[in-house]
Amino acid sequence: MADLTVTCRINGQAATLRGHSMARLLDVLRRDAHLTGTKEGCGEGECGACSVLLDGRLVNSCLVPLVHANGAEIVTIEGVASADRLHAVQEAFVACGGAQCGICTPGMVLAAVSLLARTPRPTEDETRAALAGNLCRCTGYMRIFAAVVEACGRTAEPS
Ligand code: FES
Ligand code: FES
Repeated sequence: MADLTVTCRINGQAATLRGHSMARLLDVLRRDAHLTGTKEGCGEGECGACSVLLDGRLVNSCLVPLVHANGAEIVTIEGVASADRLHAVQEAFVACGGAQCGICTPGMVLAAVSLLARTPRPTEDETRAALAGNLCRCTGYMRIFAAVVEACGRTAEPS
């Protein structure tokens, strides 16, 4: 297939992306949209480092061809915080030490944001299942799970 022009929204802003229809959304986001918070780990759908929200669904952007972004609402890690405050999940990752090298962190945060949007009070099993597609080689996961539990409390706080 030939190159194409895709119109979409990224982090709430209208965006135009250009490239081969089968270009990886991961590459287009990082190279052309300069959204380098989205990381590449395995490059083959196994690690979740490249996770973004596509129309509200957590996807591995290394497996998403550019053509599937046409008309979509995309949220990357750069779109999670508000202008003046981290998202509750990000605050909880900081508070709980849920990040070490940070390569998995954007994907982990987006997986947790996606989980809490669907299930504000997840069980431990639901949390583990929601993060199962995101691999971390540093933390041993316990601090990440603790951060998600902490984030549940923070999202319950009046703002
Ligand atoms: S880089 Fe996409 S799943 Fe690992
Ligand atoms: S913090 Fe290093 S891979 Fe998770």
